[in-house]
Amino acid sequence: MQRGEELYSGKAKSVYLTDSDDSLILLFRNDTSAFDGEKIEKLDRKGMVNNKFNAFIMQHLEEQGIATHFLQTLSDTEALVRRLDMFPIECVVRNVATGSICKRLGVEDGIDLALPTFEFFLKNDELHDPMINEFHIRSFGWADEEAVEVMKERTFKVNQILSKLFADAGMILVDFKLEFGRQGDEIYLGDEFTPDGCRIWDADTREKLDKDRFRKGMGGVVEAYEQVAERLGITI
Ligand code: TMP
Ligand code: ASP
Repeated sequence: MQRGEELYSGKAKSVYLTDSDDSLILLFRNDTSAFDGEKIEKLDRKGMVNNKFNAFIMQHLEEQGIATHFLQTLSDTEALVRRLDMFPIECVVRNVATGSICKRLGVEDGIDLALPTFEFFLKNDELHDPMINEFHIRSFGWADEEAVEVMKERTFKVNQILSKLFADAGMILVDFKLEFGRQGDEIYLGDEFTPDGCRIWDADTREKLDKDRFRKGMGGVVEAYEQVAERLGITI
């Protein structure tokens, strides 16, 4: 599949047209961003590690019955995906309280939640991705009722599948963000699942193995991503 014109360039990935109207190519770059694009650095190997990580997770989810946009790996840093009309919404599930929820609700960092919790955010960097609810989504027409239900249900299902995958490899899936889109009548999981968009802790030491290392200037960012990949059996 030939890479055509660039359709869109995000903070960490670029999206290209292909010779088919139904597919796109994702290029995973080394750029790493935090705080809605305020802090951006290039981290060697990150594009390749994230492309392979994402391919493994998307394929695992497909095997477990989740429809994803992933079609095939094209190169070290490129993947072929279905072309979706994306909902401008981020779906977050949390198993442990950390990050923005602690600031917002004044709860202690690191508390295991009695039940996984769910939040919608509007995808808008200028507004710092404000939290929204189902009424906002419906009132402003960002998605219809059916899509809202599908996004919630699938995000919880992904949580079940991936919490087990990480737990079996001695890690805790603390929280993560998913984005969905539509092709025709079908809703698919889009975007990516990599340590850029989730939190993963070592189960014994609770050491951070995700993008919080970058946000907090802890170093060893890509090394941590590679450690997670290796523990999941992903060959980089
Ligand atoms: P938060 O604690 O900053 O709200 O983030 C919760 C999880 O969702 C965390 O794993 C990071 C991920 N996330 C993104 O990757 N991008 C985003 O824009 C947001 C709001 C969250
Ligand atoms: N959307 C955010 C950003 O890349 C994710 C983060 O907070 O790191 O700026």
